[in-house]
Amino acid sequence: MTVEQEWTRPEGREPLVPGTISPRRAVPARIARPEYVDKDEAVSDSGPFVQSPDVIERVRAASRVAALALQAAGEAARPGVTTDHIDAVVHDVLIENGAYPSTLGYLGFEKSCCTSLNEVICHGIPDSTLMQSGDILNVDVTAFLDGVHGDCNATFLVGDVHPRAQDLVDTAHAAMMRGIKIARPGREVNVIGRVIEKFVARHGMESVRDYTGHGVAEGFHNGLIIPHYDSAPMFDDVIAENMTFTIEPMVTIGSQAWEQWDDGWTVVTKDRSFSAQFEHTMVITADGPELLTVV
Ligand code: MF3
Ligand code: CO
Ligand code: CO
Repeated sequence: MTVEQEWTRPEGREPLVPGTISPRRAVPARIARPEYVDKDEAVSDSGPFVQSPDVIERVRAASRVAALALQAAGEAARPGVTTDHIDAVVHDVLIENGAYPSTLGYLGFEKSCCTSLNEVICHGIPDSTLMQSGDILNVDVTAFLDGVHGDCNATFLVGDVHPRAQDLVDTAHAAMMRGIKIARPGREVNVIGRVIEKFVARHGMESVRDYTGHGVAEGFHNGLIIPHYDSAPMFDDVIAENMTFTIEPMVTIGSQAWEQWDDGWTVVTKDRSFSAQFEHTMVITADGPELLTVV
């Protein structure tokens, strides 16, 4: 099989180009905003890495709302729908549940979720792009509720996808689950990426190194970094009870070499091969990880 066939692009689907971005969606005044909205720095993007029981309960609530919105996004993802429509769905579910869309106004990002289609690795901006059968769509939703964030994403199949694209999506999900299972107190965070990268390589795919998981609680990205590759002896933070963080591997069928669009956000594979990602927020307990981004 040629490399080109392995790219799994549906018939007639050209590499993506930026679409038109809709006006900013309003958030009712009664919904509390994170401190960073429309500022050029996020002061709350700083520790601590270990959370109090009170913060953990709030991250649990925020995570549940994020997961609800992600579920709704998945139900809306079908051929003929724009990624902007997905943003509207996510926005409305977050607002209905009293949450602020954490990405809206975060360091210049202007939408309520990220929509990363096909060769987009991450941070795609919802726009007028129409989905078509054979696409894969990642939606990344972060909810800010009661002073804390919960962050999750999933890759959805649009219509009938190439079996190799299905394999990519399954591999990304399984890789995330392997990483989650190994995340136990007393281990260095670099064990997570080691198992993820090894698993992905066995499928002939690559685990993206340059975008990582992160601590999440009062800060959207609180400074704790969770690589998705074997970074030892770097990233030797020891996993501890009551840490809350994400694991969110991005997996490419071809090369993970990437470039960014002129919009300053959208990250695409250089070879335009497809990429898939999954993400959960979890809390570490004495017994191991507990997923929080569940409905
Ligand atoms: N939710 C993404 C993550 O998993 C971050 C998106 S930041 C944005 O960490 F500004 F691109 F929206
Ligand atoms: Co995240
Ligand atoms: Co996310």
